[in-house]
Amino acid sequence: MAPRNAAIHKDDILSTEGRDPENLIACPGCGEALSGQDEHMFDAERFGLLRCSCSEYPLIAGIPVIVRGPLADSNCDSERLCTLIRAGEHKQALIEALAPRQKAPKPHQLTRLLPSAVAARARSAQLRDFRTKWRHQFEMLCQDESPGSAIRLIRHYFGERYNAANYFSFRAGQPKYLITLALSQLTNAADWKLDVGCGAGHITRILNNSQSPGNAVGLDRNFFLLWLANTRVAPDARFVCCDVEQGLPFGDSVFDFALLSNFYHFIYQKRLMLAELKRVGHANTVVVISSLRNRNVITPTPNLALSPEGYQSLVDEQFEASRMISESALLEQTVLKASNELPPAERPDALKDEPMINLILTNSAEFSTTDNLESENDGAVYRINPLYRRRPDTRGNVAAFEARWPSEQYLEDNPELRAYLRDEIELPADIISALDQHEYVSEMEPLVREGVLVDLPASY
Ligand SMILES: C[S@@+](CC[C@H](N)C(=O)[O-])C[C@H]1O[C@@H](n2cnc3c(N)ncnc32)[C@H](O)[C@@H]1O
Repeated sequence: MAPRNAAIHKDDILSTEGRDPENLIACPGCGEALSGQDEHMFDAERFGLLRCSCSEYPLIAGIPVIVRGPLADSNCDSERLCTLIRAGEHKQALIEALAPRQKAPKPHQLTRLLPSAVAARARSAQLRDFRTKWRHQFEMLCQDESPGSAIRLIRHYFGERYNAANYFSFRAGQPKYLITLALSQLTNAADWKLDVGCGAGHITRILNNSQSPGNAVGLDRNFFLLWLANTRVAPDARFVCCDVEQGLPFGDSVFDFALLSNFYHFIYQKRLMLAELKRVGHANTVVVISSLRNRNVITPTPNLALSPEGYQSLVDEQFEASRMISESALLEQTVLKASNELPPAERPDALKDEPMINLILTNSAEFSTTDNLESENDGAVYRINPLYRRRPDTRGNVAAFEARWPSEQYLEDNPELRAYLRDEIELPADIISALDQHEYVSEMEPLVREGVLVDLPASY
């Protein structure tokens, strides 16, 4: 992209104290910066309470939980977490925030024959047992730092929700993911970046600049995913737990770039979200909404997608300039042809049957059509995409790997994968040894572009 910050220096536009990590978080209700923030607040061993005039919020393992009432996908609520923190029971607070929502297990045949009060007691004992077992296994998994351990934690958390587990386990390297990475180049390394609905932080990791760690902030309502991001996937970035339906928990004019990847079609408050993105950004901020579902195309995962025209009219209320591009045009141009040029804008009516679209939004007068997607992969640590397993019959100086698709639904959600990712790859010994030593050599470049090598920590 054209040098967006050439004409206006950040300090000229940002009178805000919000860029200072000690004042980053503001209450979405009253707008006050929360007291209790300090420069080490995002460290994974930090617990505490953050306050404003109207509310008190828990800080759990370096993640501010800006929630009143129940946490999403969980059985616990923020009042309980505050009580545990006040009592100094930090580990208990962490475990309760992490455990997935559990329904009472199906009653045992014999339990059905018991009087209802006895049956209820039996069921709650069953649930207690289940939770104790969950916690015990979880604590064992936390001690494991070997390759594949993050994936084992994801599987343990999601249990029988295999599609969600596969999504987060094998996120890196998908064509949709590579397109989002290409669009993430529309920001400068030193910019402050917000990743809204960041999940387990795969993309927050890429947005975070190793030269100024912490300038990428990931936000999600699922505490477990954020904890995984903060401890395993992107420990140098910062993470905040919040449901965006209530607004964004930041002061004004904080961010230079915001990303919403595979996210905007899941929320109801779409108009509020765009107004909030404008508020937490400034005149030169670029917002990328990638992998956005189209209401005209039915998909297996339920969502609240709009038509391309619907998105366009919401965007026009808040942003001066926007560019809508089909997923297929971006796949062709940035991934298959490896071009650094952004494809041209497409009209909403031309995208009526396109399963996924991408939006680039800004209020900057410098927004142009000659934008360049140059990649800056400083600090990346590459490893082989976990979708590939090493073949046992590998011999000599070359290591052979084959792709294993986790499920049919995974392939249905990522139909481009079959055409795009090679079923089998062979890597020479010098690449394997560079990977083992966390070194980058130029021969890796095409493998990174194809999603064979992905930027993930060794224990992922
Ligand atoms: C499909 S995942 C996308 C994750 C990530 N952006 C990516 O591209 O891999 C959608 C994420 O949005 C989060 N989410 C959904 N509704 C939300 C809300 N109202 N507020 C905050 N996060 C939400 C979910 O917890 C989930 O992690």
